[in-house]
Amino acid sequence: MSFSEIPPPVELVPGQDLPEIKSRPPGPSSRSWLVRHAHRSAPMGAKPRHEPGDLRAPPVGIVYASAKGSNVVDVDANRYVDFAAGFGAMLVGHSHPSILRVLDLQSHRLLMALGDVFPADAKVALLERLAALHPDPSARVMLGQSGADAVTAALKTALLFTGKPGVIAFGGAYHGLSHAPLAACGLRASYRTPFTAQLNPHVAFVDYPAQHDDLDRVLLQARAVLVTGQIGAVLVEPVLGRGGVLVPPPAFLPEIGKLAREFGVLCIADEIWTGLGRSGKMLFSMRSDFTPDLVCLGKGLGGGLPVSALIGRGAVLEAWRREPEVVHTSTFAGAALSSATALASLDLISREHLPERSERLGAKLRSMLEARLARFSKISVRGVGLMLAIDLGDRPGRATQLASKLLECGYITSTGGGRREVLVLTPPLTLGEALLDGFVDALVPCVGALGA
Ligand SMILES: Cc1ncc(COP(=O)(O)O)c(C=O)c1O
Repeated sequence: MSFSEIPPPVELVPGQDLPEIKSRPPGPSSRSWLVRHAHRSAPMGAKPRHEPGDLRAPPVGIVYASAKGSNVVDVDANRYVDFAAGFGAMLVGHSHPSILRVLDLQSHRLLMALGDVFPADAKVALLERLAALHPDPSARVMLGQSGADAVTAALKTALLFTGKPGVIAFGGAYHGLSHAPLAACGLRASYRTPFTAQLNPHVAFVDYPAQHDDLDRVLLQARAVLVTGQIGAVLVEPVLGRGGVLVPPPAFLPEIGKLAREFGVLCIADEIWTGLGRSGKMLFSMRSDFTPDLVCLGKGLGGGLPVSALIGRGAVLEAWRREPEVVHTSTFAGAALSSATALASLDLISREHLPERSERLGAKLRSMLEARLARFSKISVRGVGLMLAIDLGDRPGRATQLASKLLECGYITSTGGGRREVLVLTPPLTLGEALLDGFVDALVPCVGALGA
């Protein structure tokens, strides 16, 4: 079986309609589901807009019923345009025909094999495809289910390879919330604080350079940590994602790479958000003057199914062979179904030139936003590809208010930054170009209504 087939041209992908709001969100049906959700979903901390456990507070948000392409339909039959795309994970859009076809074929063939003991053919094919993304001809791959799995595998690899437990991480960074990446989470100390006793104590945070002038200071901070001799890895997002879509100066990665080489430390590029075309490049960190030792992928890789990957230099991943037995595995890693959809997703990304499309559409959306928001002096627009941010200035929680207003107009967005002051736009890379005007037309009055 081939894991690919010819998809429809990207502009014909179904689900590219303008919003249609029949009842103001949350409509009655969403409200009822949200109350049930609040009643039975374990609390994972207080929601920013809710008192913990306060079931009398009016429900906020919507409940999804179905989705296709760039459209989401909620349980009240309201239709939205999705500029959040499952926190960037619906990279090729919801239920893309190519993904559905492979899902159908593979689900009638094999759902799951036996992990690393007896792998599925789809898993082997996926390993080969992913290894080819790294320039090292002997590159190897380790699969997982979540982004946090891939980062965990990378941090374990760095310890095995260098023998050093220390990690340099960056202020504002987000790498997932399971224990290994949580220790390196610079986005909010409140994520780490309750669990400090269980986390790697050898993580040092340095600032993420937001502009060229910050670079020397950041490199000095990193050098001061590296001279301690305890560091095995630098873990870096090529663009700070949840931290507010901060694009570092171009010299940042090559300079970090030089420092890492000088001290014999591994560079781990967390491309879980930026990778696979989201940032306008297949891998944002991979360039002529910088090659990460290890790259983490996740989010859009599975076309909507959970699969993640650590890709790395062969010599680095060989470090695992020193262990006397298999010391890292999980039941669903390399599952046949998600491996097959990942292959379909990779096919689609390359055949439809989605990184290039993301770069072009992102540049267009960015210049439309800059032109239409120019009159709001405290607001700035930034980002790369279809990973854009509207920074609402020093106004904690402002992005959450803006996202609520946009939802009422039929647009789903997400928020970022340490104090949710940044509106984040990560639509599917297959977003119909004709939908850009409607979004910007809806956004401008919503920003105005905030008193920005
Ligand atoms: C850069 C980055 N790394 C890692 C993760 C964690 O991925 P997951 O939520 O799948 O564990 C995220 C999630 O947003 C991310 O943005």
